[in-house]
Amino acid sequence: SPSDPDLVERARAAKEKLGDKVFVLGHHYQRDEVIQFADVTGDSFKLARDAAARPEAEYIVFCGVHFMAESADILTSDDQKVVLPDLAAGCSMADMATAEQVAECWDVLTEAGIAEQVVPVSYMNSSADIKAFTGKHGGTICTSSNAKRALEWAFEQGEKVLFLPDQHLGRNTAVRDMGMSLDDCVVYNPHKPNGGLTAERLRDAKMILWRGHCSVHGRFSLESVEDVRARIPGVNVLVHPECKHEVVAAADHVGSTEHIIKTLEAAPAGSKWAIGTELNLVRRLANRFAAEDKEIVFLDKTVCFCSTMNRIDLPHLVWALESLAEGNLVNRIEVDRETEQFAKLALERMLALP
Ligand code: 13P
Ligand code: SF4
Repeated sequence: SPSDPDLVERARAAKEKLGDKVFVLGHHYQRDEVIQFADVTGDSFKLARDAAARPEAEYIVFCGVHFMAESADILTSDDQKVVLPDLAAGCSMADMATAEQVAECWDVLTEAGIAEQVVPVSYMNSSADIKAFTGKHGGTICTSSNAKRALEWAFEQGEKVLFLPDQHLGRNTAVRDMGMSLDDCVVYNPHKPNGGLTAERLRDAKMILWRGHCSVHGRFSLESVEDVRARIPGVNVLVHPECKHEVVAAADHVGSTEHIIKTLEAAPAGSKWAIGTELNLVRRLANRFAAEDKEIVFLDKTVCFCSTMNRIDLPHLVWALESLAEGNLVNRIEVDRETEQFAKLALERMLALP
């Protein structure tokens, strides 16, 4: 959508006034009107690393969702302030695992006699509390770009993995990249007594998957893949690993948002692609690569934005930047010290993965 020229000018002016004091990070799912002001764009791994590499910036304005801003706060120094332009930009997947539920799950694993063998691996898309739990119990964080390496590391530390909170990324990585079978995976349902699992089933499993998912990627189905293959002969299907297992199994390529972009950059002219991820990104890629004669379509017929990513719009960004330029610190995301200490341990294990 075309940006309001007045707001564009205000954002530019506020950013100029702030100079090196501000650093703006933009996740690939952000709107065009916001992404134009990002100093760097990236997937969640790249943004975590980039946030940590800007010690001179007093303000990190995070155009993304809450868990990303929390992670940036954890990885930056105490005097750097992380700002999320709209506090309502959460993530429904991250909300599917609360600290209380995860503590209860650990009790269930303890009662089944397996907690000692279990290493938690938590997807970046989780609250700081869950990251702290992960750090405390010897586990690591992962993103969609390093999930395989995180699982390899975890299986060197223990015999089983508790994967939080995205069952799909956990299952897809275990089966597609680690050669496990679907039977090696069980799903722990936090809304059922004992997760809906018997102690015996837990003892047999290698991967204990939390019952969480992304509602945006959950919209893609096997039917969407079959439809697009029928409609566009020769199409390459490229999807994000938050998609269901059957979708990932039917796709030609799977990867993080950054991987999706790199794959399309390397694709030959004349190639055709159907992309299974958030729509702001797919539209931007379709426009960008049209000039290079690469045909890019959205995998599904229905519209599929991430509504919380979309909460960060140009008016919110302008408000945040102008407030900072006037010396008002607004919408700061700050993780408490104890949580930060353990969450940092888990995030640093991820950053140290080979
Ligand atoms: P990546 O950008 O790391 O692939 O993650 C996608 C996502 O869902 C972020 O919320
Ligand atoms: Fe969360 Fe899915 Fe939106 Fe990513 S796309 S922020 S996982 S709801």
